[in-house]
Amino acid sequence: MSDEKTSKVSGFYKLPVEKRVEIVKNFSGLNEEETKLFSSYLDMEIADSMIENVLGIFEIPLGVAVNFLINGKDYLVPMAIEESSVVAAASNAAKIARVKGGFKTEVSDPLMIGQMQLLHVKDAATAAKNIIDHKKQLLDLANQQDKILVELGGGAKDLEVRILDSPLGKMIVTHIIVDVRDAMGANAVNTMCEALAPMIEELTGGKIRLKILSNLADKRLVRAKTVFDKEKMGGEKVVDAFLESYILASIDPYRAATHNKGIMNGVDALIIATGNDFRAIEAGAHAYAAKDGHYTSLSKYHKDKDGNLVGEIELPLAIGIVGGAANIHPKARLCRKILGVDTAKELAEVVASLGLAQNFAAVFALSTVGIQKGHMSLHAKNIAVMAGAKGDEIDKVANQLVKEEKVKLDRAKEILEKIR
Ligand code: MEV
Repeated sequence: MSDEKTSKVSGFYKLPVEKRVEIVKNFSGLNEEETKLFSSYLDMEIADSMIENVLGIFEIPLGVAVNFLINGKDYLVPMAIEESSVVAAASNAAKIARVKGGFKTEVSDPLMIGQMQLLHVKDAATAAKNIIDHKKQLLDLANQQDKILVELGGGAKDLEVRILDSPLGKMIVTHIIVDVRDAMGANAVNTMCEALAPMIEELTGGKIRLKILSNLADKRLVRAKTVFDKEKMGGEKVVDAFLESYILASIDPYRAATHNKGIMNGVDALIIATGNDFRAIEAGAHAYAAKDGHYTSLSKYHKDKDGNLVGEIELPLAIGIVGGAANIHPKARLCRKILGVDTAKELAEVVASLGLAQNFAAVFALSTVGIQKGHMSLHAKNIAVMAGAKGDEIDKVANQLVKEEKVKLDRAKEILEKIR
């Protein structure tokens, strides 16, 4: 890598682990202690404080995707994932996206929604009006719960009331809209919902049942866009083949689920690496994919006037850089330092760009050589290890399996016996 700070690294995957760590260390300005974290495990005391009934630590590999250029800034993107080919695919997609200037993003304010479910009111319309008429008092009460958030420019900003028909009759659902700044926001929002519940009951004579944040964070949206160079893709015919493949995801939920799973391969890997709640992100993303009444693709593609492929993605991203595991887990802090992000907004920009890159890579492979080719070499390595190969033997067995296009455990055992 040259002195100029770039995430463009050729042949990164061919380097030994130590050399890769050195590149990341130099790129992100890591100190010795931070660098050592790569090969360390989470302290048992920290693990024991994070969940209940702890027995140990469950490891998955941490890699880094290279080549990402987002809003003119270079990023090395940490990814915690157990699936082979995902990190390589993201890096390749980012390399193609760089040609036309990389990813451009837009992010909304970090607005989360808290829901309060009200039952047993005599007249729904009057109850709803009473709540709306006391909006200011309710917002003031919410903001008394988190003075620091308010000082930082966040806090409860708005209140909406919905009247829903239900098997139990009319139900009133009050939404409190909270700017959670750099946090994921669940704690702040849930605390506010619980604080408002008695006041809403008093205003309406009803009974509040649920009071909890909504994971459909559709006021906290991130958009990423990029142009994939047609020449780097192999010409306009490949762009057309890509678009033909993509169309199925836009019309068919069976394909859309798999298409979006490809997006979440990237999204979740970075969400996990930064100590965020991937279940919340998954729930929000898939609910958002069905926002128009039918489940569809989270990404969209079209051809520009020059025949290049334009890719766009929009999804809700409730992620934070303060609070929870994002702060407690030393590797989550390390991953944030590798990224060089200082705000939840910037982290969201990288997550959305990575999701788009990952999606492009999968559909690109599916439209051309198919997905198995890329999967094969790492899969072959796994099979070689399962067959008992050690050290140099792993590559020897794996290469032979790929050459024979027969990546099977019994064949791996035979090859291993022969080379021994
Ligand atoms: C596999 O983890 C993800 C893919 O199935 C995504 C897709 O089909 O677009 C390859």
